Amino acid sequence: MDFSLREDSPHYGTNGHPVKSKLRFIDLFCGIGGFRIAFERVGCECVFSCDWDKYSQITYEANFGEKPHSDIHSVADTDIPKHDILCAGFPCQPFSIAGVSKKLSLGRKHGFEDEKQGNLFFSIAEILNYHQPSAFVLENVKNLLGHDKGRTFDVIHRTLTKALGYTVYHKIIDAQSVVPQHRERIFLVGFKPWCHFEFPHFPTEGPKLSSILERAVPEKYTLSDHLWRYLQAYAAKHQAAGNGFGFGLFSGGDVARTLSARYYKDGSEILIAQGGRKNPRRLTPRECCKLMGFPADFRIPVSDTQAYRQFGNSVAVPVVERVAKSVIQALQMRGKEDMYIGESMPLFNLAHKRSKKAGGMTHEPHPA
Ligand SMILES: C[S@@+](CC[C@H](N)C(=O)[O-])C[C@H]1O[C@@H](n2cnc3c(N)ncnc32)[C@H](O)[C@@H]1O
Repeated sequence: MDFSLREDSPHYGTNGHPVKSKLRFIDLFCGIGGFRIAFERVGCECVFSCDWDKYSQITYEANFGEKPHSDIHSVADTDIPKHDILCAGFPCQPFSIAGVSKKLSLGRKHGFEDEKQGNLFFSIAEILNYHQPSAFVLENVKNLLGHDKGRTFDVIHRTLTKALGYTVYHKIIDAQSVVPQHRERIFLVGFKPWCHFEFPHFPTEGPKLSSILERAVPEKYTLSDHLWRYLQAYAAKHQAAGNGFGFGLFSGGDVARTLSARYYKDGSEILIAQGGRKNPRRLTPRECCKLMGFPADFRIPVSDTQAYRQFGNSVAVPVVERVAKSVIQALQMRGKEDMYIGESMPLFNLAHKRSKKAGGMTHEPHPA
């Protein structure tokens, strides 16, 4: 087992003793910065962010004062600063059931065969390979686990473990214990060198929608008679056919379905009941912000359509925050063990050099 400290870590002086500085992370496919809020809350410092969507960049800049770098393929490994933790909620479309069925119906490839998007995981792998951060946290849709009969996850797992040498832990976490939304996502957490890690404990009983609903909601969020009739007819048709597609109608005491990036279309997955005489309404962007666990004063400088897309694509911040806290604790614990070993073993390898080709990759990196 390799217990060597990395001489380029900002957290260790040349004597092997920890230096009190912040752990640094990078925010890949950052969207509107859900990972960033979570990792900053646990005391880390963001040193790089990247997302090519111009509206997400506007929201990100309004909240963090920095415009993220654009297309990941246009960023050279050498342009990314040294970091301790790589964070990435990488695009889920090639892996989600909706994405797969949509692509299949369009005659397009899916998963890793989707040359434009599926290979984004390999951009992450390439950055891990080059920078060798101590840890990573990746997030994706739950369906990543079963996609292509498990083969997609297998390739991802083998690349992270066998090719890149990380110890990987994964878990599906439902955000509903910390936000009033049923939202299952897979988290992959990796460490190099080995590190003991346990996913955080989540409460069994979570908050209800009443905790995020606003009192004075403008009329424009109430469904028109036409749209409400259409949604009811659509649901009735599908119920008769024996499948459960249809709108979701909720009150303050409920937990919402998963907010999707398509919420802007008709909002049908989460409708709020407004009593018998009034049609239901959609959530406002501010309510979506709170439904995802973003701070109530998070700036929303874009249109409602863009805001719905951005929150639907994002992460439940309190979930990531808890995972981040556990990652930091695991790294701190390892730091203490390393120190102890460092003090008791004079031949301790502080001169450990990072290899640019550590472990050897199982794929051909795309050209930069
Ligand atoms: C699932 S979202 C991640 C959202 C983010 N975790 C958050 O908290 O808002 C994936 C993001 O990847 C971005 N993306 C997709 N392809 C990209 C590329 N080639 N380069 C950079 N960003 C990309 C999308 O614009 C989208 O915002």
